[in-house]
Amino acid sequence: MARLRLGVLVSGNGTNLQAILDAARAGRIDADVGVVISNQPGAYALSRAESAGVKAVSLPHKGFASREAFDVALADELRRERVEWVVLAGFMRLLTPGFLAAFPQRVINIHPSLLPAFPGTHAIRDALAYGVRVTGCTVHLVDEGVDTGPILDQRAVRVEDGDSEQTLAERMHRAEHELYVDVLARLAQGRLRLPAAQG
Ligand code: GAR
Repeated sequence: MARLRLGVLVSGNGTNLQAILDAARAGRIDADVGVVISNQPGAYALSRAESAGVKAVSLPHKGFASREAFDVALADELRRERVEWVVLAGFMRLLTPGFLAAFPQRVINIHPSLLPAFPGTHAIRDALAYGVRVTGCTVHLVDEGVDTGPILDQRAVRVEDGDSEQTLAERMHRAEHELYVDVLARLAQGRLRLPAAQG
């Protein structure tokens, strides 16, 4: 089976990207990361891509007149690199319907909560504030809503007494890295059950 070609979108530190790069290099995912694109020019994730010998592209959204225009440039860059699946790894921007139509049912995201609980940008903080004793992470297909797409897999993370946002985030990250690599490994081998395409 041919190796899957991934494009990874990032905005920040990129620990999930690192887990994916490491797993691909070690042969634990039958996939190659063709390009890493960040909408934040200073994102450390770009350095991680460069260190791994992967093309790193800084595409600051601030340089575009509209969300649509940014997403057209984003899709063009991914197509140029012959990307088959778009993997969001801490990419903190909503994608437009136009972008999703360019990669139908082929955009995947990781979110630090057990969706549908705690969607949005502060999922770990929100889970702590609510007082849940178990939270976790979710890998899902991206649709036009905020963290609403079909769920592919989840992993639970216990909230410990005295957890701060930072200590919980550290355990969350470890769970995310395992979950994302596992889902991508199954995806690349055609072992992941995908929801039927809509429409
Ligand atoms: C991860 O925890 C990811 O789940 C979250 O951003 C973090 C990125 O960390 N994404 C979202 O909250 C998306 N709604 P990383 O840059 O170290 O991979």
